[in-house]
Amino acid sequence: MAAPEPGPSLVLAGLGAAASPAGAEAPLRGSDLGRVDVCAPAAIAIVDGRIAAVGPPDDVLRSHGDLETVDCRGAVAIPGLVDCHTHPAFGGDRAGEFDLRAQGADYERIHAAGGGIRSTVEATRRLGAEGLKRAVGRHVGWMAANGTTTAEGKSGYGLDRETEFASLAAVAGPHPIATVPTYLGAHSVPPEFDSADEYLDHVIAGVLPDAARRAEHADVFLERGAFSAEQADRYLRAAMGLGLVARLHGDQFTESGAVPLAIELGARSVDHLEATGPAGVAALAGSDVAAVLLPVAALYLRRSQPPARALVDQGAIVALATDFNPGSAYCDSLPVVMTLACTALGMAPAEALAACTVNAAWVLGRAGRIGRLALGYDADVVLLDAPDWRHVCYHLAGRDIAAVYSRGVRVAGGEAEPRGARPHRT
Ligand code: NIG
Ligand code: FE
Repeated sequence: MAAPEPGPSLVLAGLGAAASPAGAEAPLRGSDLGRVDVCAPAAIAIVDGRIAAVGPPDDVLRSHGDLETVDCRGAVAIPGLVDCHTHPAFGGDRAGEFDLRAQGADYERIHAAGGGIRSTVEATRRLGAEGLKRAVGRHVGWMAANGTTTAEGKSGYGLDRETEFASLAAVAGPHPIATVPTYLGAHSVPPEFDSADEYLDHVIAGVLPDAARRAEHADVFLERGAFSAEQADRYLRAAMGLGLVARLHGDQFTESGAVPLAIELGARSVDHLEATGPAGVAALAGSDVAAVLLPVAALYLRRSQPPARALVDQGAIVALATDFNPGSAYCDSLPVVMTLACTALGMAPAEALAACTVNAAWVLGRAGRIGRLALGYDADVVLLDAPDWRHVCYHLAGRDIAAVYSRGVRVAGGEAEPRGARPHRT
């Protein structure tokens, strides 16, 4: 096998500041989630696509002044964002359903009537492998433009062997940013099966063993109208036996046993949690299972938001993600999620940043490699054309992202340097 190409080497100079979650630990819990180190002014040296130095410009240029230099004109650097829960592999759209919901229709009723996820399954099967590649490429491009440099991507809209594997291949890429494929075989029961148990028998015997070679995680939608706790247990135990990391969609509409099951199995995360009560919060806080919060889904479906403040204060591992999908969260922007975290979840900007970087990286098994601006980390950097890093949260759906670097390669941002960046204040 050929050796991988070394990444680029350069210095991002003229930064107004570099802001990164403090410390070196992962995951971050409780008050540690809210600590951000800001170095102002700053420079970042990148060697072979990894961070070789970050700090005051004089120090960085003294050690790496021989490298090509990019003048960032006062832009503020934050770590590349990590989206640990997305569904980018789908065909069609659900604008009609969005319209109906805006007029009061209920998501669960649409699903029970064969719309919702099932309608996307039909459109995804029609797309074929090439169409899926194009669709996922387009969706991943949107994410990158919004500052995401690592995205998890789930299958789950094919639900037959061929379309699920085409979905996992489309997520695997290659893409300009890093991607992590998740097999969501247990998303919904496809129309050719009469029962969830019959479908799971088929998945476990006939699909999972090959899916395990194409994915890193296995996920299940544990909810009334989807899969029960017993069924999720059966599916996830089989997946874990094949080396997959267990994830769950749980407590989206009802507390149906996802939290205790996730803890019993040693799952990596349970995601959604809009319906989780105090006992679930306490159980998660005492566990190593991450709570992945998806505020756009709650907003879209007009549900109450998950108990983020209680989860953080009691010491749970909290991450944030878009849940990008055509039904419940048609949003590819982690900065929008961060704004919602600060306005609807009671989280501070520093907590939102750590939840979309260090903790999301931990959920994806990449802690220590991505999620910080720190020595040895992948050179995944977002440059903000703003006077303060908190603008990434403060500016709702703003256009502050001047450039995005993935392992030292510029993957988004049209110009060579940020334009109109304010000079740093002294
Ligand atoms: O995470 N809840 C299950 N799955 C997705 C939505 C899927 C859809 O509506 O198409 C979610 O919200
Ligand atoms: Fe989801």
